[in-house]
Amino acid sequence: MKTCHTVKELRAALKVERLKDNSIVFVPTMGNLHDGHMSLIRRAKKEGKVIVASIFVNPMQFGDNEDIERYPRTLAEDQVLLLENGCHYLFAPDALEVYPDGKRSQTQIEVSGISNILCGASRPGHFIGVSTVVTKLFNIVQPDVAIFGSKDFQQLKVIENMVRDLSSNIKIIGEDIARAEDGLALSSRNGYLTPAERTIAPSIFESLLNAKEQIQLKEKTFEEISEQAQKKLEEIGFTRDYFEIRSQHSLQKPTKDEKNLVILVAAYLGKARLIDNLCITLN
Ligand code: PAF
Repeated sequence: MKTCHTVKELRAALKVERLKDNSIVFVPTMGNLHDGHMSLIRRAKKEGKVIVASIFVNPMQFGDNEDIERYPRTLAEDQVLLLENGCHYLFAPDALEVYPDGKRSQTQIEVSGISNILCGASRPGHFIGVSTVVTKLFNIVQPDVAIFGSKDFQQLKVIENMVRDLSSNIKIIGEDIARAEDGLALSSRNGYLTPAERTIAPSIFESLLNAKEQIQLKEKTFEEISEQAQKKLEEIGFTRDYFEIRSQHSLQKPTKDEKNLVILVAAYLGKARLIDNLCITLN
């Protein structure tokens, strides 16, 4: 696996692959890789010939109150994992390479209608940071296919809408959520949990399964189901952010005939902000 730290280096390497007519599959990440990321790499191998991953802790998607310095950086270990799992190129730029004039003077991409709700409401500007950096990475890598995890369901929708709205010729794939045996969605943020918090954390997935059952029973309103779930999570030590039942397609509040729903939760546990979701199709 070749690691490139500059845009020039990566472009030169990928030009050679394109001349050979090799399809390029891209897996963007912020590093601190775990088996959830490796499931994206495994999926990438099924989708094309040349696998490119990126590791960039994107300052533009962190709020001023969010500690970007605390975000774990484990490049050497990440390189070993990527190599072992068959990645061909790693793009690992520094902030100056991506934002030569600083993140504040950077042209911004905002995907309308979907960027300021749910996680976007709790983290103002977050999705502008995500869609801007992903556009830049797409322009640098020029992949045929890009793979994202479905744990960040809203992020996946933002990227899908962005690619559609900007007429980009990139196929976006959302890979299923990778979970630990006890159900907790794999995430770099799980590393912030204390051992005691880690034992409580799977309750977030249980709350989704429980809400799914309640929705299918059709005895309570979505608001009642959500409120009940949040109260239960609070009782066991979580701090609420949101628990919402939305249209899977638009992420807006569902109409009463909506069949394809997604239950989305974000909650704080100690220093970690955990997110998870579950799709549900009604008969
Ligand atoms: O999901 C992530 O790790 C990041 O939001 C992404 C897509 C790599 C953009 O920085």
